[in-house]
Amino acid sequence: MISYGRQYLDRSDINSVLKSLKNNLITQGPEIQKFENSLKNKFGSKFCCVVSSGTAALHLSGNALGWKKNDVILTSPIGFLASPNSAIYNGAKPDFVDIDLKTYNIDPKKIIKKIQKYKKLKKKIKAIIAVDYGGFPCDWKALKKISKKYKIQLVNDNCHAIGAKFYGDIKYACKYADVVTHSYHPVKSITTGEGGSVLTNNKKIYEKIKLLRSHGILKNFSKTKLKKTPWLYEMSTLGYNYRITDFQCALGTSQLKKLEKFIIRRNKIASIYDSAFKNINGFITPPKRKKIRNAYHLYPLLIDFKKMKISKFNFFNKLKERNIHLQVHYTPMHTQPFYKKKFGFKKKAFPNSLKFYEKTVSLPIYYGLKDEEVYKIIKYIKKLTGVK
Ligand SMILES: Cc1ncc(COP(=O)(O)O)c(C=O)c1O
Repeated sequence: MISYGRQYLDRSDINSVLKSLKNNLITQGPEIQKFENSLKNKFGSKFCCVVSSGTAALHLSGNALGWKKNDVILTSPIGFLASPNSAIYNGAKPDFVDIDLKTYNIDPKKIIKKIQKYKKLKKKIKAIIAVDYGGFPCDWKALKKISKKYKIQLVNDNCHAIGAKFYGDIKYACKYADVVTHSYHPVKSITTGEGGSVLTNNKKIYEKIKLLRSHGILKNFSKTKLKKTPWLYEMSTLGYNYRITDFQCALGTSQLKKLEKFIIRRNKIASIYDSAFKNINGFITPPKRKKIRNAYHLYPLLIDFKKMKISKFNFFNKLKERNIHLQVHYTPMHTQPFYKKKFGFKKKAFPNSLKFYEKTVSLPIYYGLKDEEVYKIIKYIKKLTGVK
């Protein structure tokens, strides 16, 4: 079966996991810090805290950034639910800003309009969670300007863009955002099975996240205190069990060594799709910019189904019959029943997101996908849409 994404594990990954399973500690052991150090080095952050998922990373980030009731947190409708949900987990209110149809990322100009709208209501935006959709970095220069001017916190939900480069820099995310979150789910650039991390240059945020990761429990006390009560631990705040195991981190460290090779292959696959579809009327290939390297977590191909005289439903199912399982990323979040009911979002409030949703399909893209398979997918898509 060919799906839109999947992990790639080799012998060295499996050996790393096996080796770590022979350690005394299979959780809260040495592999945790080892993976955190590798991530800090690779992505240029002063601090890193690995956690059980990308969702946990976002939840804790919001908590450490002090989100609370009446705080407004902005993100775009074309992303995964974990981003706006992290506002709700912390008692804050999520709101959306439409995407830019040239990049599929949150539109900085529309953010400014939204800020002005809230200003009229005498309300301030607390934070922006910007997702580097599909692996293509947002306009971080513009976002940083906005965050400085209006004193808004910036979170980069970087789950799709692990290994992307912004102006040639793989370490871009922590240079622009206050907090950067990763997911290591199997479809992402690298995997730990389930897992995630928070990267930041802010010591206070890091320390809070580290505390929250494990029940808000402190264990380092003065020697005199420990002499009297060597078993002591103290809960200082309400935390969670968002820990990740050592064997997952051993896998993460091993996978991270292959990140470059993974991203180069994803770019190669994308270039084959680009050449096949880029100049054909009715298709729009993903954005390209000088000095930007897309990590290609996704390859969203926009198809004008009306023009091609095939419904998206039929297109999707016909490919499925050939064992090619596409996906659609994403159903605009403001149209989800929960969001409509709880916050009253109107479907037409974000027209670019709807236009994008109508046309987009995520084509298979992952390290292990062979060239022959890519050509087969292109051939079927051209056959179904009747193009040469
Ligand atoms: C943009 C984005 N944010 C957050 C998440 C949540 O990550 P996880 O599945 O590790 O909880 C995902 C995962 O699909 C994602 O795509």
